[in-house]
Amino acid sequence: MNLKDCHNYNDFRKLAKKKLPSPIFHYIDGGSDDEITLKRNTESFNKCDLVPNVLTDVSKIDLSTTVLGQKIDFPLFLAATAMHRLYHHHGERATAKAAEKMGTIFGTSTMATTSIEEIGKLTKGPKLFQLYIHRDRGLTDNLIERCKAAGFNSMCLTVDTVVAGNRERDHRTGFSTPPKLTFGSLLSFVTHPQWTYNYLTSEKFKLANIIHMTDKGSTIDKSVIDYINEQFDPAMNWKDAEYCVKKWGGPFALKGVMSVEDAKKAIDIGCTAIMISNHGGRQLDGSRAPFDQLAEIVDAVGDKIEVILDGGVRRGTHVLKALALGAKACSFGKGYLFALSAAGEKGVEAILKKMKDEIKRDMILMGCRSVKDLNKSKLRFK
Ligand SMILES: Cc1cc2nc3c(=O)[nH]c(=O)nc-3n(C[C@H](O)[C@H](O)[C@H](O)COP(=O)(O)O)c2cc1C
Repeated sequence: MNLKDCHNYNDFRKLAKKKLPSPIFHYIDGGSDDEITLKRNTESFNKCDLVPNVLTDVSKIDLSTTVLGQKIDFPLFLAATAMHRLYHHHGERATAKAAEKMGTIFGTSTMATTSIEEIGKLTKGPKLFQLYIHRDRGLTDNLIERCKAAGFNSMCLTVDTVVAGNRERDHRTGFSTPPKLTFGSLLSFVTHPQWTYNYLTSEKFKLANIIHMTDKGSTIDKSVIDYINEQFDPAMNWKDAEYCVKKWGGPFALKGVMSVEDAKKAIDIGCTAIMISNHGGRQLDGSRAPFDQLAEIVDAVGDKIEVILDGGVRRGTHVLKALALGAKACSFGKGYLFALSAAGEKGVEAILKKMKDEIKRDMILMGCRSVKDLNKSKLRFK
């Protein structure tokens, strides 16, 4: 199997599984506890059906949308995810270039392995920085200042990761960052010689955005989960979020909002967007799926703030359904990470192209010329 055999999310996942040592594959693939929320995030899209219209002249289709202050070519972008260097030795460089080429937003994490400054120089495409509030508030200020200097267009603050979720697959596989050869994991590294060779012969793993600020940056001697639990601040509150919104002063999303109540508070503190998200089922298991929460949040605040649907998106029709309920755009994580693991920049470009083609074809079949034509009248719940 190789890239040309990848036609959809499941194919990219399969190829990534083949390429990656198993602790790393399972770090991407897994959710928390019983992984109920992880599964539900995608299943929930099947609770409704699309109702197409015919004979609408769909010879010209406009997939573009404007979100987080940026016009993007199609309504799906790359949610920020940690440590791309683990999945492919070109790391965030590959992901950022593919997003730029495909005309969509590249989200990069506080926990990235390529620095804010390097991403700023590398891509002219729209860039979103994902902030975590650390116990050391100087670090948060420093990240915001650096994003301004590097030409980032928007920021999101992740608020669902006050402590790390219980990722039991990682306990079983012995996942650690940087990856460590242990007796248990040895076989999986030996049986993936290409990944292991690339990992060992390219630049050293580091959390490039925070290495200057904390000695934990390059030598997380336990795991990223321990890092989160030691460094992220459980005392984080609405005042802290408001401080970040004001300090940034541009398009700002709160990521991890799941209730109408919190969506209203996000408006009060000056956010321009919310990302309805449960971290791809990696945090609170048993939490509702973003798609299930979308309608009530859009109905309450959709005319005052941009609503982005994050989590569970695997198909173009999932994006259409979210937009029909009032989302401005969707974002995804695992899909492009599997593609990155499978084939680097070419892989990410390929999955973005597949998703864009699916969205376009589905719009044509729905009889919609523009994303603005998608509304509740196009859906029926079972
Ligand atoms: C391997 C991995 C690492 C992630 N790292 C981060 C992160 O550093 N910050 C963050 O806000 N979200 C992170 N996320 C969550 C994504 O931003 C996004 O919310 C999630 O992947 C969406 O669900 P999906 O994977 O079903 O598309 C991560 C997700 C994965 C799979």
